[in-house]
Amino acid sequence: MCNLATQFYLKMGQNSIYQGNISWQSPSNIALIKYWGKHGMQLPHNPSLSMTLSASSTKTTLYYKKKQRADKNIDLTFYFEGQASEVFEKRIASYLSSILKEFPFLCDFQLRIESSNTFPHSSGIASSASAFSAMALCIMGLKGIITGSINRDECYQQASYLARLGSGSAARSVYGGYTIWGEVKGMETYSDLYACPVQSDIHLEFQSFNDAILIVSGKNKKVGSSAGHALMEKNPFAQARYQQAMDHTIEMLKVLKSGNMNRFIEIVEQEALTLHGLMMSSEPGFILMKQETIDIMDRIRNFRETRQIPVAFTLDAGPNVHLLYPASSRKEVLRLINEELLHLCEKGRWIDDAIGNGPELFNE
Ligand code: DP6
Repeated sequence: MCNLATQFYLKMGQNSIYQGNISWQSPSNIALIKYWGKHGMQLPHNPSLSMTLSASSTKTTLYYKKKQRADKNIDLTFYFEGQASEVFEKRIASYLSSILKEFPFLCDFQLRIESSNTFPHSSGIASSASAFSAMALCIMGLKGIITGSINRDECYQQASYLARLGSGSAARSVYGGYTIWGEVKGMETYSDLYACPVQSDIHLEFQSFNDAILIVSGKNKKVGSSAGHALMEKNPFAQARYQQAMDHTIEMLKVLKSGNMNRFIEIVEQEALTLHGLMMSSEPGFILMKQETIDIMDRIRNFRETRQIPVAFTLDAGPNVHLLYPASSRKEVLRLINEELLHLCEKGRWIDDAIGNGPELFNE
């Protein structure tokens, strides 16, 4: 059994149980089956399945120093991209306070967290998934140092649990490849409490998949995810949606194994359109797509039909389009982006991303 605490000690030279720092870089993820609707303590109404990315990530360093005198308060300073950030500091301090029951050691230290993203600020890319995943792993690192007895699988599972409490989709960013968060009918492995890597084999076609993130707008969303999830409580289509997501997840597991590209494309696009359909059918309904979003989706479908090249679009809770394609079609897809899609992107911006291996621990 690989002991993660030992790994931390080896990698962290100067660190001790009194003082040190832990750094993790954690990627964002793109959901193929969407999480939309939650209850209780950040529990999903349906399973979601995502592909972990590699280029879009957050690097977080947790500096810790034992307090001279113990108290029951979180002592935190937070820096985002080199600047002290009161807004983030408040949000993270309240998050840390909320997990104190399970992680009481957090109030034994003065904590300083420094975080930065590899993707440009205001690119419209959700950073909560990569940010909470990186932070959860840092917290588990500290736990590993203090207890000296935490095994690798447990560490990742608890990190995913912790990340979920910060932001649901963050639970899935703790692992690389394809990940599932949420109970799946008839399968014991998957849980509402934390995400797990997809357990079945992945067909060669899906092992090196790419995601071109086409930035239609980098502005902040009009409706935040949490408000959007809350609107599902009264959405008249909610129950049918949760059932559809369950069916899609079970089928997607088979698709990823068999390599059925046509069905992959159908499910992924239906999920994206359903997500936005749910937003529009909420009360009040809201529209996050822009004209350019629809234009890009049309062009992607047209390219697929006329050229017989397997490409699919998906959307987050925003106007940007994720263009998913197998590595084998890269040359043609790059031409499509340059010739037909780039002028529809804000300032011609896009991020060249792909499936990734998951978070990395790196201490200088
Ligand atoms: C549309 O994870 O951002 O991206 O749990 O409130 O932080 P909170 O929500 P969040 O919701 C993500 C919604 C989504 C779909 C998905 O990633 O599954």
